[in-house]
Amino acid sequence: MSNNNPNVHEKVEKNVGLMAVLIAVAVSFGGLAEIVPLMFQAETIQPLPGVKPYPALQLAGRDVYIREGCYNCHSQMVRTLRFETERYGHYSLAGESVYDRPFQWGSKRTGPDLARVGGRYSDDWHRVHLINPRDVVPESNMPSFPWLAKNQVDGAQITQHMRTLQKLGDPYSDAEVAKAAADVQGKTELDAVVAYLQGLGKHAPRGG
Ligand code: HEC
Repeated sequence: MSNNNPNVHEKVEKNVGLMAVLIAVAVSFGGLAEIVPLMFQAETIQPLPGVKPYPALQLAGRDVYIREGCYNCHSQMVRTLRFETERYGHYSLAGESVYDRPFQWGSKRTGPDLARVGGRYSDDWHRVHLINPRDVVPESNMPSFPWLAKNQVDGAQITQHMRTLQKLGDPYSDAEVAKAAADVQGKTELDAVVAYLQGLGKHAPRGG
């Protein structure tokens, strides 16, 4: 800055409060320039073709996934790096997680990324694996989750959850919400987590 107006300059430099505010304003411009365009770019808020809000059972499974802290060891975001796309499949796109509240991208990978795990194993494999991972992967250090097979999914809670998401703008039909409790009737949390896992990456673009 030139010294055309030394009075103004001196005032700012001698007033710590004013200086802090002005620094905050200056720094914010960088952040705004990065964040604001994302809010208006259609591709970051448009679902990919075929991506729909989670069906009742998968939504219940997702709740269990969050409750059990699976995200502490598993990310759900394939990065745009060759060794990642060769291992997991197409890199993740924003349009895949439009209905993820909160998203499960994560960065901690004690276990593998799960963004593309749907269809990779059978339902039975997942059941055995979740109850005791060592039964199918002897060297695994993933914890066992045997209680999932005993806990029933709470239909009333899932109905409320879907109603809330509907209020937030997720395009659930009233009919879907009305039959949510029936959809999860008699299902265990294990059924729900397996349904959730098998749906992951289902609408991802093909290839690496
Ligand atoms: C303490 C860390 C840890 C936690 C917590 C954890 N996992 Fe894992 N998970 C692993 C590790 C390590 C592996 C790789 C070995 C194996 O397959 O068991 C794995 C593997 C998996 C796989 C197989 C992935 C593949 O591509 O082979 C699935 C599916 C999975 N975990 C689901 C879950 C779910 C669901 C939960 C929560 C209920 C969970 N994990 C919690 C560490 C963890």
